[in-house]
Amino acid sequence: MTSYASTLAEPTALDSYLRGWVAARCGAAPAALQIRTLGVGVWRLERPDGSPVVAKHHLFRALTRGTAWDHLDVESVVLGRLHASGCPVPELLAVDPETDFALYECVGQTTADAYAQTAASHPPAPDALGARLVRGCQHLHAVLAQQRDLEARVAPGGEAAALRAAWTEAAAAAEGALDWWLAAAPRARRAAGAALRRIVAACAAAPPLLGSADYNARNVVLDEQLQPHFIEFATLSWDWPERRLVQYGTSLGAGWPEGRFVNLLDESARQAFARCGGDPVLLDYHHVVFLLNGVALLARALQAPATPRARALLAAWKHPWQRLAQLCALLGEPWSDDARACSLRRLVREHGARVLAAAPDSPGPDRPLRGSRISGPSGAEALVSRSSAPVVGPPATA
Ligand SMILES: Nc1ncnc2c1ncn2[C@@H]1O[C@H](COP(=O)(O)OP(=O)(O)O)[C@@H](O)[C@H]1O
Ligand SMILES: [Mg+2]
Repeated sequence: MTSYASTLAEPTALDSYLRGWVAARCGAAPAALQIRTLGVGVWRLERPDGSPVVAKHHLFRALTRGTAWDHLDVESVVLGRLHASGCPVPELLAVDPETDFALYECVGQTTADAYAQTAASHPPAPDALGARLVRGCQHLHAVLAQQRDLEARVAPGGEAAALRAAWTEAAAAAEGALDWWLAAAPRARRAAGAALRRIVAACAAAPPLLGSADYNARNVVLDEQLQPHFIEFATLSWDWPERRLVQYGTSLGAGWPEGRFVNLLDESARQAFARCGGDPVLLDYHHVVFLLNGVALLARALQAPATPRARALLAAWKHPWQRLAQLCALLGEPWSDDARACSLRRLVREHGARVLAAAPDSPGPDRPLRGSRISGPSGAEALVSRSSAPVVGPPATA
């Protein structure tokens, strides 16, 4: 199949369309635009004066055309309102409803994910980066909470009932991760399980909010001052703001040769969340469940590495035992004083170290994942991201 990247290497209908359409809206000659591919169907176009814009072909819009959740309509309405309210999102400059193209202000050259993966080559990240992520994300949620008419535009699968079902699966996957980490320590397993069940219930009892269904660190673009800008509002869902924040603020580094999990939500971010009226304990809880789902994904892939799903995960996350060690370290670091979260984090830290001691020569702890909790299709991937784009894909090139 011919890729966009290769078709753009030579004059094609797509190239001509893109140049002509963007040039007409930017006051530049089509041939003068410099085009760089940012992703599948996403391009950065630079005008002769160096100022860039971003064009995107909404490839899946065709599936939603004419519905209340039409991708292009939702992106236009939501971005328009967020931008008018001063939220950190790109301005939508134009859309072509015939061809499903949209043109955006270019808000930066790197993503939170890429920034975190290349942190060693930057000056130390300002503490404020995590706090900025929190403030930006909370601002979006506050504005969208006022837009009651948008509730009718939630995409199928994004309803509150679907969230409950996804959460049940996430909880089961987290239980499966504890089965795996703590198999040799039944008492610790029971204690961790009791803490986890309360954590899951407390999260479920909190009210979900309307927001983007596509929340991950690649959908946060950083400008030169490291101000975050949130992108991708074509699909709306109900979800917990804490869950969105945890996933916007965790770099997965999928596809990077030495990719690793990096937490951008430092102490300053957690304090900023409290100052915005959020409950840092819920943030803590969502972080725990999210990371345990990462453990579940890896454990399952290590135990059945030949399945297509495992292959995709291992290709993206590369070094599963290093990844498990990173998850163990992130889980082991307390986020709040909450007794349940602290005790669960401590149990995983202590016993996880024992499991890791068996790596990397052994194929993993010499025991199957107990039960069927995470052996069938589960919501674990969905938990890692509800994104329509696969979270295990190649890194963004921006
Ligand atoms: N407005 C924008 N400004 C700067 N970079 C952008 C913008 N929109 C998208 N990008 C870059 O392009 C990448 C892919 O765009 P995105 O809309 O996230 O597409 P996808 O649906 O493939 O995830 C983003 O991760 C980001 O690096
Ligand atoms: Mg994206």
